[in-house]
Amino acid sequence: MTDEREITLTVNGTEHTIEVEPRRLLVHAIREDLDMTGTHIGCDTGNCGACTVLKDGEPIKSCLMFAAQADGAEILTVEGMEDLPEADDIHPLQEGFREEHGLQCGYCTPGMLMAGKALLDEHPDPDEETIRDAISGNLCRCTGYQNIVRSIEYAAEELENRAAADGGAVAADGATGGGSAASPQGDASPEGGHAAPEFGGDADTFCGREDCCGGPDGADPFDRDALLEANDADAAGDAGGTDDAADTDADDRGDTK
Ligand code: FES
Ligand code: FES
Repeated sequence: MTDEREITLTVNGTEHTIEVEPRRLLVHAIREDLDMTGTHIGCDTGNCGACTVLKDGEPIKSCLMFAAQADGAEILTVEGMEDLPEADDIHPLQEGFREEHGLQCGYCTPGMLMAGKALLDEHPDPDEETIRDAISGNLCRCTGYQNIVRSIEYAAEELENRAAADGGAVAADGATGGGSAASPQGDASPEGGHAAPEFGGDADTFCGREDCCGGPDGADPFDRDALLEANDADAAGDAGGTDDAADTDADDRGDTK
């Protein structure tokens, strides 16, 4: 028989005292003893990141820690996201995953959200490389990561906008030049808001236009048809017809002219 010990975990602001065996993993304590099944188990070996929670503000894989090791800790799980001060109806990160299609099966999403939360707490305006680094311990089988990166970028901008609307000191952030605070739609210039390269590549490779808005930071992040139509118009006006990127776009849609 294994001795149990009493531990206290403050999860999403509520204190819980539970009895656990010394060998009990934190993820099992959260899911089974506290009945918070939003935290997922994908591998139980520390590889997938599905079980990521914040312990005292730091992202940890809860399948790699005994519950007893977390005695006295403050834990944030996905269930607590919508109650955070920066959340409106839902947290901007959750909103970002919805708006930018960052989830498909959604299995990895709780871990991604927690990794994203830890990142934005430390780096409110991360570049793409920093985001990819922050989620490198989280596996997603479905989305190819690009939409997840965009989801976190969306949240960063939304948080910045909300802070600016609240009279926060966002504009003092020299890295952004205060561009987003002045312009709700952002600014394609490198000094203001997000430049196109932060959305997945060079500006001239996203839609084929030299002045590509860069996608999600543009006038309408989902109006790609309009971008492609504008692209076609450019291609039609191009007497040489040598715009490779435009040709590719046309071919993609079965337009063989
Ligand atoms: S379940 Fe913890 S890393 Fe996969
Ligand atoms: S959305 Fe399916 S594993 Fe990430």
